[in-house]
Amino acid sequence: MNPIVKFLKERRSVAIRNLLPDPIPSTDLQEIINCGIRVPDHGILAPWRIKIIQGEARRYLGENILVPEFIKKQANASEKMIEVEKNRFLRAGAILSVISRVLPHPKIPEWEMQLSCGALCQNLLNASLALGYGAQWVTEWYSESKELLQTLGGDHKTDRFAGFIYIGKTQTTPIERRRVVAEDVVEKYNSTD
Ligand SMILES: Cc1cc2nc3c(=O)[nH]c(=O)nc-3n(C[C@H](O)[C@H](O)[C@H](O)COP(=O)(O)O)c2cc1C
Repeated sequence: MNPIVKFLKERRSVAIRNLLPDPIPSTDLQEIINCGIRVPDHGILAPWRIKIIQGEARRYLGENILVPEFIKKQANASEKMIEVEKNRFLRAGAILSVISRVLPHPKIPEWEMQLSCGALCQNLLNASLALGYGAQWVTEWYSESKELLQTLGGDHKTDRFAGFIYIGKTQTTPIERRRVVAEDVVEKYNSTD
């Protein structure tokens, strides 16, 4: 089988709990990002932004943004829950936060800009897995946090998180999950139907 097709047919995300927090070499991150931004992008609008979260910034964001944001949502949060938020970004070596940025355009609809951003996320995921890392694309509760969006360079008037790509070394190989089969979602168009 063609090795790229084999990869695409067999690739699997690795759950964040199975990632290690060791740093990711910047050369690898750069490769992943370069693959990420090589996506179909109607009009070359680059309707997306990536902010890399790594090193000490992971702890800083947890303590200074996630914890207060979480407490705003859940005033009676337990110590244990607060500890989870403090350490949330420490679960992986690097997290690529992906912001979808939709700007008015006379011809290209917003929907196409958002689709391009989803493709970017998938490229980031695939490139991470192809380099032998474990990776997972999640949104989790803080994707809706305006405070975090602003801290990571977004503007809530035009921007929205498309997700966070957690990347880490891993020692586990994920087992296959239940998959949709083509017969359930694909059929041939027949002009005589
Ligand atoms: C936009 C988007 C957001 C997601 N958000 C979450 C999430 O917040 N938490 C979660 O456990 N999984 C989330 N998932 C699903 C995970 O990425 C999951 O690992 C994935 O569906 C596994 O599939 P795979 O092995 O085919 O990559 C999300 C998926 C997408 C596409």
